[in-house]
Amino acid sequence: MCVYNDRINLIDLNDYPVSWWNKILNLAHEIIENPDNYKEACKGKIMGTLFYEPSTRTQMSFQTAMLRLGGTLIGFDNPQTSSVAKGENIKDTTKIVSGYADIMVMRHPVAGSVRAAALTAECPVINAGDGGHLHPTQTLTDLLTLKEEKSTLENLTIGLCGDLKNGRTVHSLIKAMSCFKGTKFVLISTKELALPSYIKDLLSAGGYEYKEVTSLDDAMDELDVLYMTRIQKERFNSEDEYQQQKGSYILDKEKMKKAKSDLIVLHPLPRVDEIAIEVDDDKRALYFKQAKYGMYVRMALILTILKNDGKPAPLMYGKVYNGVSCSNPKCITHQETYLPRYFRGNGDTVICDYCDERTLIE
Ligand code: NCD
Repeated sequence: MCVYNDRINLIDLNDYPVSWWNKILNLAHEIIENPDNYKEACKGKIMGTLFYEPSTRTQMSFQTAMLRLGGTLIGFDNPQTSSVAKGENIKDTTKIVSGYADIMVMRHPVAGSVRAAALTAECPVINAGDGGHLHPTQTLTDLLTLKEEKSTLENLTIGLCGDLKNGRTVHSLIKAMSCFKGTKFVLISTKELALPSYIKDLLSAGGYEYKEVTSLDDAMDELDVLYMTRIQKERFNSEDEYQQQKGSYILDKEKMKKAKSDLIVLHPLPRVDEIAIEVDDDKRALYFKQAKYGMYVRMALILTILKNDGKPAPLMYGKVYNGVSCSNPKCITHQETYLPRYFRGNGDTVICDYCDERTLIE
């Protein structure tokens, strides 16, 4: 029933087994140790980077990764300088660029957009963030950081703090960490910015331990890892709603006093005000180092995909339901209306293969 296209696309890390993630993390470690051995590994290959949304780290670390592997780049970081400004749809833009490049990296403001692009692309596609949905390469970055700095991915108590509703890095990281033994999640947010129910359902179904709290202060002393996130201003429906949440959590020196001596503080960055600058000098603040790990893990990912090293994952898991519309107004199927409506599962409630939200069939 699944739809494949025989390429290794990275849309959602959980499309692949943990053994494949580990292969990438091990290769990244090897690249950190011996970067010179990889200087020409992608010579003659071209990477296309299509960034429909602002980015510093993800975009530049991908670009640097490809350049450090000896490859070259095409792409845009402002769709308004491309034919997108003339009204070109995602299918046409990505089909053309993926015909020019050997590997394509895409970030887009709408959930499910990168999976949609991969359906018709002509080269492997990597999701560099699709709206508030997922961000698998940030998760590879986070996993590499944990593995290198904590020496294990098991039995960690992770506090995730801030915008758990709209933070795609949080969604991807929780889905990934729920695959490791003994992970405990402490979800720290206001009621309004709580984790979406489809991810909580996954945790409950898998029997994973998690609790939802509103106080960062109270949670500090039990954490091995604190993952701070920015309130995602661009995902709010109004400025008013954002203003009510802004500044809800600020990690400062006082709070750090309550934490374990071997806590590590991570943040996908950019930071706005959620970590006071004074925390940067604490040896437990690892977010800048984490960003550098991102470059190495992306080198490993590009190499793995270009070597076609792995079993391609399905692109779609379900089947086309003509006439059914996804319940999520932020799903790509509402913007790119030509897309076939793939849903998985049976019964009255099905799950959208693009954005993972549940929809009731009338
Ligand atoms: C994150 C993103 O774009 O989702 N940044 C990143 O890729 N490192 C987090 C954010 O924007 O807050």
